[in-house]
Amino acid sequence: MTSNRKRVLSGMQASGRLHLGNYHGALENWVRLQDGYECFFFVADWHALTTLFTEPGKVREFTREVAIDFLACGLDPDKSCIFVQSDVLEHAELFVLLSMLTPVPWLERVPSYKDKQKELADKDLSSLGFLGYPALQAADIAVYRADFVPVGEDQLPHLELTREIVRRFNHLYGEVLVEPKEIVTPTPVLPGLDGRKMSKSYGNAVYLSDEDEVVRKKFSNAVTDPQRMRRKDPGRPEVCNVYAYHKLYTAPARLLEIDAACRSAGIGCVDCKRELVERFFERFGAIRERRRAIAAAPERLGEILKAGAARAQKAAREGMARVREAMRLGWAP
Ligand code: TRP
Ligand code: SF4
Repeated sequence: MTSNRKRVLSGMQASGRLHLGNYHGALENWVRLQDGYECFFFVADWHALTTLFTEPGKVREFTREVAIDFLACGLDPDKSCIFVQSDVLEHAELFVLLSMLTPVPWLERVPSYKDKQKELADKDLSSLGFLGYPALQAADIAVYRADFVPVGEDQLPHLELTREIVRRFNHLYGEVLVEPKEIVTPTPVLPGLDGRKMSKSYGNAVYLSDEDEVVRKKFSNAVTDPQRMRRKDPGRPEVCNVYAYHKLYTAPARLLEIDAACRSAGIGCVDCKRELVERFFERFGAIRERRRAIAAAPERLGEILKAGAARAQKAAREGMARVREAMRLGWAP
């Protein structure tokens, strides 16, 4: 499968099961990229440890769940290299080397550094590892000499920092590393059920793995147009979270009807939500079915990840050989 196709790499933190925001903001796009690029997709368990280091069992559980989500959504081990970060030690080796040339103020300046400390105020995020999060991400990318990194908008500062580190490396040791470009995911960020950004820390997310009943309950509790207090009040689809989902899951002709019926109070929110749930199950039925099948066959999943790690390691070792030579490491006669 080595070819002259451009190389794509991306990862997802193992900090929880994947939700619809992760799907539309990343995975859905990754699945499309598989046919045009040489792809590497991994579960970032070390990155998850930066915030979960006191609960190691959780990282293992989430690593498994995210890997299942990857495959269920259509990442295909015959097309892409799918693996777990900690199975490929070369990421850590490059991280050590990049940390020599990465100024601490560059890391402190990354917006997610302070934002996450605020968001997760109950956690101790004063560690070296948490500060180094974006440098580890840079190593993930650079060790494969990836050309493109598909990411959501929120990851752009990390990618910019990766390029700065790569440029500094190349300036110091010669043009060895590749400056990656981003592929920004086209789907706009999906609102959570309460209208804020969908995030597991806000408890407003629908997970690919949620039971049917849980999905129904979550959508039925979703915030709609806050001005539509009673059934006879007209609604405004443009401010309604439920409508935002209809835009993704409902056919255009029916969407227009819902828009008109909402504005004239012809349809009530309860029915509108029930219809959305039906569309959701249609759209995700196959994925959810596949998810159950993969979860029921853990040995097969283990084999896929092991084979993925072996392939990834081969590529990462090639990358590291160049890096070691560029930095004049190792004994030479
Ligand atoms: N930071 C990414 C996230 O929050 C995960 C990640 C780790 C990543 N290493 C990466 C993404 C390398 C792209 C490339 O999901
Ligand atoms: Fe939203 Fe549908 Fe209710 Fe209109 S009818 S406010 S689109 S849930």
